[in-house]
Amino acid sequence: MSKQSKDSRGGEIRVGIIGAGLIGQTHSMMLRKIADASLKISDATRKIADGSEGGVRVAAIADVSAPAAERLAARWPGARAYLSAEEIFRDDDIDAVWICTPTAMHLEACIGAAHAGKHVFCEKPLAMSAREATEIKSALDTAGVQSQVGLVLRFSPVYTVIRAMVQRQDAGRIVAITMRDDQDFPIRGAHPSAWRNDPKVTAGGTLVEHSVHDFDLLTWMFGAVKSVYCRTRNLNGGRGIEDFAATTLEFERGYHAQHSSIWHHVQNRPSNRRLEVFCENLFVATDFDAAGPIIVQRGADAREEIIPEREVMAQFSEIILAERPYLAPMKNYFAIPYALEDATFVAALGGGCAPYPALGDGVAAQRLVEAAYESARLGRPVDIATASNR
Ligand SMILES: NC(=O)c1ccc[n+]([C@@H]2O[C@H](COP(=O)([O-])OP(=O)(O)OC[C@H]3O[C@@H](n4cnc5c(N)ncnc54)[C@H](O)[C@@H]3O)[C@@H](O)[C@H]2O)c1
Repeated sequence: MSKQSKDSRGGEIRVGIIGAGLIGQTHSMMLRKIADASLKISDATRKIADGSEGGVRVAAIADVSAPAAERLAARWPGARAYLSAEEIFRDDDIDAVWICTPTAMHLEACIGAAHAGKHVFCEKPLAMSAREATEIKSALDTAGVQSQVGLVLRFSPVYTVIRAMVQRQDAGRIVAITMRDDQDFPIRGAHPSAWRNDPKVTAGGTLVEHSVHDFDLLTWMFGAVKSVYCRTRNLNGGRGIEDFAATTLEFERGYHAQHSSIWHHVQNRPSNRRLEVFCENLFVATDFDAAGPIIVQRGADAREEIIPEREVMAQFSEIILAERPYLAPMKNYFAIPYALEDATFVAALGGGCAPYPALGDGVAAQRLVEAAYESARLGRPVDIATASNR
């Protein structure tokens, strides 16, 4: 493939997706929305002049399954279907890759991309261990490519609004946090991925493969964690694949969170989360991890107040536009956190912002989960500063 520079294509960014399963398809849909919104980075309102579809285009898909690669490639005019990541790395037309393979393949794919000089969006968890995650980060940093990790909850409207509420002075000090994350055991139904039951391919069970999102979210909302105390259970018999984890997180600022992570067999229940925060003068809770609603009780008034989704979205729009003005062209998609994380990386590739969340955030979240696993093995709390990350 002859190389045409991004600049000579009117700044259009050409993307390769590696792994055409559930999340690869999701990112393809999000990149479509970004292309449709003509998110022209650093110049959000200018239309692309060269007749291309927008500021970004998926130009190749790689998957070990030919039908999977071909099906997804068919959704993008002219996109090539490959059977291996290496073919994407050799394709000079590709600027950036979205790594959406099962977790065990992330390390090799990230290192391959680094060697090929491709920018990298990598799904969570970054790797099979914190040591591997660190290796990924240093390979990408050394190569000088841009990189971002798929810790998508940082773009959740409801958590963004709750974060702002608990940071307000009139809420008083934070007292306690409770969070539950639950998902149908992800080997069928909405998440039909047999690899999640294979300890050679998955980094672990519900805690690392799903709740790594929550550990990242909790540090983003409430600050650094000092220690963790975790107990796990394994009801389904998969070796090293826990389906329940209960973790107490002690924050450096003195308060605690109780977190439950559950893979269950209630097959028709959609994957969901509950978050409750008690501050001295405020109780706030939500049963949904995207647009709300939020339940609030405050001060001397015992009445329960409901902040409906519409109001959550209005408050989120105000916050996100102040913090990330480059997302303005995505206003029709503010309720879709995946669209905003992908738009942020596209914006970063165009020089409009820094990648966010950065790879370092992915490494930190993985270290935290690994400290929790260590605590479960030892049967005692583990200090994050002294945790023996593998
Ligand atoms: N951020 C999120 O909300 C979220 C959601 C789901 C999955 N994920 C993460 O994304 C990754 C993929 O999960 P999924 O649910 O999409 O899995 P999946 O099983 O649906 O899809 C994985 C795809 O990768 C392909 N594949 C396997 N080995 C490959 C290789 N060496 N090269 C190219 N393709 C290969 C498979 O054929 C399959 O099509 C995992 O790390 C997972 O934890 C993140």
